[in-house]
Formats: sequence, structure tokens, C-alpha cells
Amino acid sequence: MWEYTDKVREHFLNPKNVGEIEHPDGVGDVGSIACGDALHLTFKLDDQGRIADAKFKTFGCASAIASASALTELIKGKTLEEAEKITNQEIANYLGGLPKEKMHCSVMGQEALEQAIASYRGTPTKEVEGTVVCECFGVTDLEIERAVRENSLKSVEDVTNYTKAGGGCERCHGAILELIAKIQGETVPEAPKPLTNIQKIKLIEETIEREIRPSLRQDGGNIELVDVIGNRVQVATRGACASCPSAPITMKNLVEAKLREFVSPDLVVEEVSS
Ligand code: FES
Repeated sequence: MWEYTDKVREHFLNPKNVGEIEHPDGVGDVGSIACGDALHLTFKLDDQGRIADAKFKTFGCASAIASASALTELIKGKTLEEAEKITNQEIANYLGGLPKEKMHCSVMGQEALEQAIASYRGTPTKEVEGTVVCECFGVTDLEIERAVRENSLKSVEDVTNYTKAGGGCERCHGAILELIAKIQGETVPEAPKPLTNIQKIKLIEETIEREIRPSLRQDGGNIELVDVIGNRVQVATRGACASCPSAPITMKNLVEAKLREFVSPDLVVEEVSS
């Protein structure tokens, strides 16, 4: 579960500047509903060249709504030169921070603003720049490089949190690591050695004992490890878990999630009887 600041909650529950400006000076559209996040930003300038009004419509999660709302508040009253210096980190800071898994929402706000300013100036938008590295989410090398540079990202997971790249089939992970290494002037980190089966079983047992059993015991339940076949982890439910209709959800959301976090992201948990 993500921790949201009060400011994020406030901007999610009562977003500012929702809607669309008629006859806007600038329009920015980023993301797509098919990818789960989309943002439509419009602004109007006053006769001094300052942003007099800004409105947004978004399709996305609480962080996407809060980030768009924050962005519109941040840019009002600014010249375009001032507005275009706003970084995604400033949008997140305005909200008192965002969960790291949701930083891509602030990046989406920054990109929508860039597009809206580009549309006003009649210059090409950034969306078409670079070569697509992540086919799943259509993210280019230049977008990844920029996110790594501006936010000091150090891992594929960081890049996924900020750009979504790498969050699907994982085929692009090698290319993302190379981009990180290129920017940091580092060598590509060595891939960790795979666990032996004995190491894997030991780590699974430890994770169940430390991370999973305490939660299950609170509700009178338990699980036991039955077998590990490759990446398939077979467990049997005990106590209240054995008759609980929510057991399949617990298997996915608690047991599998913890084992993937602490042992290996490739593990799949199966419930078996024994
Ligand atoms: S190509 Fe990047 S996650 Fe699939």
C-alpha cells in the first residue's frame, strides 16, 4: 500500500483547475488511456505573456490527478520561460513527495507542460525524439536518459517508477542498464548470481517466517512450504486460511508479493493440499 501525503490527498479529493480552456493558447496531451494514464493540459496567456489560467483533464490514479492539479497551480502566473523550468521533482515536492512507484505521474505533468508550450510556439514536441527502447510503453532512450540524469536514477526499478519503461515484458532491461551506466559513467553492473535450489528454499522459508506468518497468525491462519519446483513455490494453507474464501487473494497479494520482493521476482505461488 502506498503512503500519500496530506497534500496529495487534498489535491486528489479536491483537484484544482479541472476542465478545459476554450480557445487555449497551449495544449498538451501525453500518455494514453490504453496505457493507464493520460493527461490533457490547456493554458491561456494574459497580455503580459504570463499563464493566466491552466486546466487539466486526466485519466489515471490519485497521484496522476494530484500531480496534474499541482502542476496547474505551479504554472499559473508564470511566463513560459519560467514555467518550462519546472521539473517533475518540483511537482512532487509541491505535493510533499510522491511514492517512488508513482513518480511517473509527475513526469507526465512535466511532459504535458512541455507539449503545451511547444504547441503554443509551434515547435516540434519531444514525444517523437529518440529511439524507442521500451516497446511495451513506447519510451525512448532520450526520455530514459533525461529521467536518469534529472533524478539520479540508479536501477531499472527506478527507471520504471519514473517512466514506466521496463515495467512489462522486461526485454528492455539490458538496454536500460546500459543507458544508466552510460550516464553515470559506470560499467554495467554484473547480474547477480542465480540462487541454488537450497539457497532459494532457505530464503523462502526465512521470508515466510519473517514477512508472512506474523500477518496470517493475526487472523488465526498459517501456511507451510510444501515444495519448490523451479520458480513454482507450492504452499499449503493451515488454520483459518484453509477455509478462508479470500485465501487466493492472500496468496497473490501477500505471499507471492513478499516472496517476489525478498527472494526472486520470477516466483509463482501455488496452493496445494497436503
Ligand atoms: S520492452 Fe520494456 S517492458 Fe517490454
